[in-house]
Amino acid sequence: CGIVGYIGHRKAYPIVLKGLQRLEYRGYDSAGIALYDGEQLKLSKTKGKVADLQEKLENEISTDGTVGIGHTRWATHGVPNDENSHPHYSNSGDLVIIHNGIIENYDTIKKELIKRGYEFHSDTDTEVLVNLIEDVQVKEGLKLGKAVQIALNQAVGAYAIAVFDKKKPDEIVVARLGSPLAIGVGDNEFFIASDASPFIEYTSSAIYLEDGEMAVIRRGKEIKIRKINNDSLVDPYIQKLKINLEQIEKNGYDHFMLKEIYEQPDAITDTYRGRMLVDQGIVRMAGVDDNISKFLNARRILIVACGTSWHAGLVAEYIFEDFARIPVEVEYASEFRYRNPVIYRDDVVIAISQSGETADTMAAIKLAKEKGAFVFGVCNVVGSSISRETHAGAYTHAGPEIGVASTKAFTTQITVLSLIALKLAKEKGTISNSDFHLYLRELELIPNKIKEALQSNEHITDVARKYKDASNFLYLGRGFNFPVALEGALKLKEISYIHAEGYPAAEMKHGPIALIDEMMPVVVIATRKGHYEKVISNIQEIKSRKGKIIGIVTKGDKEVRELADYVIEVPETVEAFTPLLTTIPLQLLSYHIALMLDKNVDQPRNLAKSVTVE
Ligand code: G6P
Repeated sequence: CGIVGYIGHRKAYPIVLKGLQRLEYRGYDSAGIALYDGEQLKLSKTKGKVADLQEKLENEISTDGTVGIGHTRWATHGVPNDENSHPHYSNSGDLVIIHNGIIENYDTIKKELIKRGYEFHSDTDTEVLVNLIEDVQVKEGLKLGKAVQIALNQAVGAYAIAVFDKKKPDEIVVARLGSPLAIGVGDNEFFIASDASPFIEYTSSAIYLEDGEMAVIRRGKEIKIRKINNDSLVDPYIQKLKINLEQIEKNGYDHFMLKEIYEQPDAITDTYRGRMLVDQGIVRMAGVDDNISKFLNARRILIVACGTSWHAGLVAEYIFEDFARIPVEVEYASEFRYRNPVIYRDDVVIAISQSGETADTMAAIKLAKEKGAFVFGVCNVVGSSISRETHAGAYTHAGPEIGVASTKAFTTQITVLSLIALKLAKEKGTISNSDFHLYLRELELIPNKIKEALQSNEHITDVARKYKDASNFLYLGRGFNFPVALEGALKLKEISYIHAEGYPAAEMKHGPIALIDEMMPVVVIATRKGHYEKVISNIQEIKSRKGKIIGIVTKGDKEVRELADYVIEVPETVEAFTPLLTTIPLQLLSYHIALMLDKNVDQPRNLAKSVTVE
């Protein structure tokens, strides 16, 4: 979910509305806004997108007032409908709340409140929380800040909240535990948001609340931040932000996803800039250099991540083992955290996360830290929760990724992890000097090779047109490109809603081959380096069962071309870096298919960019 708030001297409505649009990538089942116009507290909310809200709201309530809060939701408790949308009123109608996260013990609290006469109009945990706050406030005659604090100490779960009380219209109380919350500090005005994008054009000064902190924000006053559990005051740390709005907007592309696909050459250059000194044969990364003995003495590397980041972890497994000869395990964070896993003190845990906010990954990190392992983060969002929770880390520097289907985050994650693997390989002597140099030079060439791969866009559009009506796809790859097959299938599923499965090519004969007939397009990654002959045999197996073959091949390839229905070429590179190139046509293929099927490419149904609940 995304939350936005404003208190100051401007009209709150346009700021909150635009802020919600920018945060829609965090969830878009439903949206709502509450505004106080100096006399009345008004609220409007609806199932659907922020655009639906705008239409409804402007017919329903006055958009006056200099204080307001808004929410865009990704449902956890209760189906997406008008009632379950945020904001939520308390029973008296005085308090209003927005909440991103989950209150796990809401049921117990709800029963208690019902006994005390409270009524509930939604199925949400959030409505329970706002009434708990009201109950505490009324019962004990407390100020809002204190009541929020006491209520939060009774709540178990994760949250970023903003609460407004119409009896005290000059303040908003916010708090965070496990979900992000930034406060923009302007001239006599404050902004509240899940990230800085809603307020970046008004101020570049921001305070990021830490987990377990709350703030009372008063019009024209200093912000008071304190710890939720022990009441101690915290000095506000105001950061200067460097991102600009243009980076966030579409920059002339029809969709964020397409823009982000095309940004990959620059994004990868940004990722390795300053870290890879090709002529001198040096890889330097502060987070690794400062902890080099931990890495060199690592018994194992455990990689934890979710979704696309997990796929980047799988590619990294091949790279780390091949280059640095360190055993690697790659784990879904959500499984790892609940499995009572064996974690040694001399394990290095690498957590990969674009957003740096994924709840399962965060929990896996906490577990690994408890067991004494060294935890290293690979995140894209600077200052994100995961980047702060880990012992050290390396940012991917891909720039904001807005499209829900992850693209440039994936390739830049692989780039960072390749750099780390190369560095360790060199230190450990598991790679020859000449190979080390060769790899650095190859990595430096990757951005240009991606540009070349992007030139197949039109041809890929033809392929998309041909197969867009298929109801199933199979993606096959081997070795370094097995995870790319998984990622290609995930991209297609996410945005076109066509069922797709990724498989290691050789495993096909143990099951998926039964699915193959003339209706089934099979995307086979068959670059010349790495198991090429074996993959050709797999292609023949598909062909003899009449499957349709789309080969992702090395430029100039002849053998696959003879067998396949279509081939899409990528430039040649060393085997370990082929995923950085073979991924590109798969991203474009899913983009065009989704577009032709008239799907919402940037905001596919049921998904959220940043999943801050488990
Ligand atoms: C969500 C997104 C995916 C992403 C996954 C992990 O499900 O829709 O695109 O891969 O979360 O996110 P992270 O930010 O941790 O990389």
